[in-house]
Amino acid sequence: MNPAMSTSTLEIHPSDHAASPEQRAKLMTNPRFGQVFTDHMVVIPYKEGQGWGKGELKAYGPIEMSPASSVLHYGQAIFEGFKAYKQKDGSIASFRPEANARRFATSATRLAMPELPEERFLEAARALITQDQAWVPGAVGESLYMRPLMIGTEPALGVHASNEYLFILMASPSGAYFSGGVKPVTVWISDDYVRAAPGGTGFAKCAGNYAASLVAQSQAKGEGCDQVVWLDAIHREYIEEMGGMNIFFVYQEKGETVVVTPELTGTLLPGITRDSLLQLARELGYRSEERKISVAEWKAAVAEGRMTETFACGTAAVITPVGRVKSRRGEWLVNNGETGPVAAKLRESLLNLQHGLIPDTHGWMKKIVG
Ligand code: PLP
Ligand code: COI
Repeated sequence: MNPAMSTSTLEIHPSDHAASPEQRAKLMTNPRFGQVFTDHMVVIPYKEGQGWGKGELKAYGPIEMSPASSVLHYGQAIFEGFKAYKQKDGSIASFRPEANARRFATSATRLAMPELPEERFLEAARALITQDQAWVPGAVGESLYMRPLMIGTEPALGVHASNEYLFILMASPSGAYFSGGVKPVTVWISDDYVRAAPGGTGFAKCAGNYAASLVAQSQAKGEGCDQVVWLDAIHREYIEEMGGMNIFFVYQEKGETVVVTPELTGTLLPGITRDSLLQLARELGYRSEERKISVAEWKAAVAEGRMTETFACGTAAVITPVGRVKSRRGEWLVNNGETGPVAAKLRESLLNLQHGLIPDTHGWMKKIVG
């Protein structure tokens, strides 16, 4: 779409029923991931021929839509996830939000939806974080999780791209993603289901990818596992992702630590945490590789002691070590089921950077308040 068609600036309508400081403090005590929402949200409508209209920051609450809205039938829905962190000096900064804005645009294009101009995405984020700054938790590892969403709202049952959309941005104070905190998870390699196939939507953050993953996730639970590991659709051999996270493998080769992650093939989500860790790993003196890695290699390299760690990464959970792998092809422990030093070091480095405890030499932190 033509960015010139988008009008700028948001109308700010503060909530008349915002939580009191006491209510907020109670809600922010150990919130489970994505269950508590701040006082406000941003909405921006889009109409074909008019482009993106005036946005509004208003009280968080239900939205009204027609039961014929195209998203409810044909699933035009994309989303993002990024975080705002309290900094050591009390200010608030968000981590690489423009990377999320760009990925949101890529997802939109894949789903035949209009791109929201990056500056409108960032303006919405700035406005909401500023308005709801009291909801940003302070401890290292805690943050305000920002959830942008775009849905097709045209009330029409013909199968075609919607001619109306709604962008919504909401925010949720967040502690640990997995209720057990940072402890290694047990994973189930899915031989029965695939997440994404070449030519499909694997690289896009669209709602349907997650709907399609749930049955595999529940199969993994049934096998006594926390998460599912996805294989490539063609060979059913190469590892792609873990649940809603990217995956890394740590090798010790001739005295050198090597971190390996599956290459981006179009079927993986190009994680922003993945990209950041590849850069941090090099700075910490590890060699990094993006390449294919098979289940057979995973199993053999662990058995031979060449692979010392496996971990997953994403915005929500940061880094989650993998302690045990189960599958129809066998079962094995990684690093004796414990968190390894490379996962711990990368997690600490990333969190320290996100909270302003070490210098941000990459320009990743965008100051929002203070
Ligand atoms: N893979 C999938 C399928 C995801 O949903 C996510 C989460 O956003 C990731 C990977 C990690 O991406 P990021 O690091 O940008 O959060
Ligand atoms: C992530 O941020 O790592 C995610 O996978 C987001 C998830 C809640 C969809």
